[in-house]
Amino acid sequence: MRVVHTVAELRVVLAGLHRSGRLALVPTMGALHEGHMRLLRLARAETDAVAASIFVNPAQFNDPADLAAYPRHEAGDAAMAAEAGVDVLFVPAADEVYKPGHATSISVKGAAVGFEGDRRRGHFDGVALVCTKLFAMFQPHVAYFGQKDAQQVAVIRQVVRDLSLQIEIRVVPTVRDEHGLALSSRNARLSPAELVRAHAIPRALRAAMAAHRQGADPVAAARRALGDLTPEYLAVAVFDGVSTLVVAARVGATRLIDNVPLDHPDLSGFTGRDLL
Ligand code: PAJ
Repeated sequence: MRVVHTVAELRVVLAGLHRSGRLALVPTMGALHEGHMRLLRLARAETDAVAASIFVNPAQFNDPADLAAYPRHEAGDAAMAAEAGVDVLFVPAADEVYKPGHATSISVKGAAVGFEGDRRRGHFDGVALVCTKLFAMFQPHVAYFGQKDAQQVAVIRQVVRDLSLQIEIRVVPTVRDEHGLALSSRNARLSPAELVRAHAIPRALRAAMAAHRQGADPVAAARRALGDLTPEYLAVAVFDGVSTLVVAARVGATRLIDNVPLDHPDLSGFTGRDLL
């Protein structure tokens, strides 16, 4: 695996990789866990060459403290990416991506309105900008994103359509722990007691799926299962025509988001009897 830090070095490596066939890009912000690994391994299995990026994108953080606190594990991340079979790992500095004088932004409405878009002002504009730049830098045939961030997927699809980008978007089911909690770099901030409280979220999602199957109200079922965990939002969103139950809740100081596509339970990451 080659690790490169500049766009110039990246272009040299990509020239060779583009000749080998279909190129996949897996954009990340690092602090890699099994969720990211699933994307990388699937990309390895499905395409001819795999590129990944690790960039904690300042443009998508509306809270400077959140940006400063974001975990950075470059050495461990590189070892994990290599193990997943990544060919080239791009780890740029902030001023390599946003050169002095950078003055272009992307403003997304549509899929970016509501839910995370309302609570984290400017967040999706920052995601859209960095992903568009990464697509331009790598020119991949396909980019991999996690269902975990369902609205992010909808925003990326919106941008790809609206800017006529020639790229396939591949969505990977949410990877969960043995309690059903979606893996996230934020889970590491939970105390043992908070971790137990956080398990109410997957319980709520399972209850919503069961209610939906039975023709009952998924939101009401999820609200009951959340118990004393008060959600920031709990609703059915429609992302690209798929009804998706979305939830955001704070557990202590840690903000968690999760979702289940009610009509596409295979993407939910729940398995076995939860899907029956
Ligand atoms: P990050 O949070 O590092 O996530 C990188 C990718 O991994 C995203 O597509 C995310 O949905 C996926 N992912 C994270 N946890 C997952 C899980 N438990 N199961 C499945 N997929 C999971 O999302 C971002 O970074 C950034 O916004 C980015 C797209 C890189 C733009 O900066």
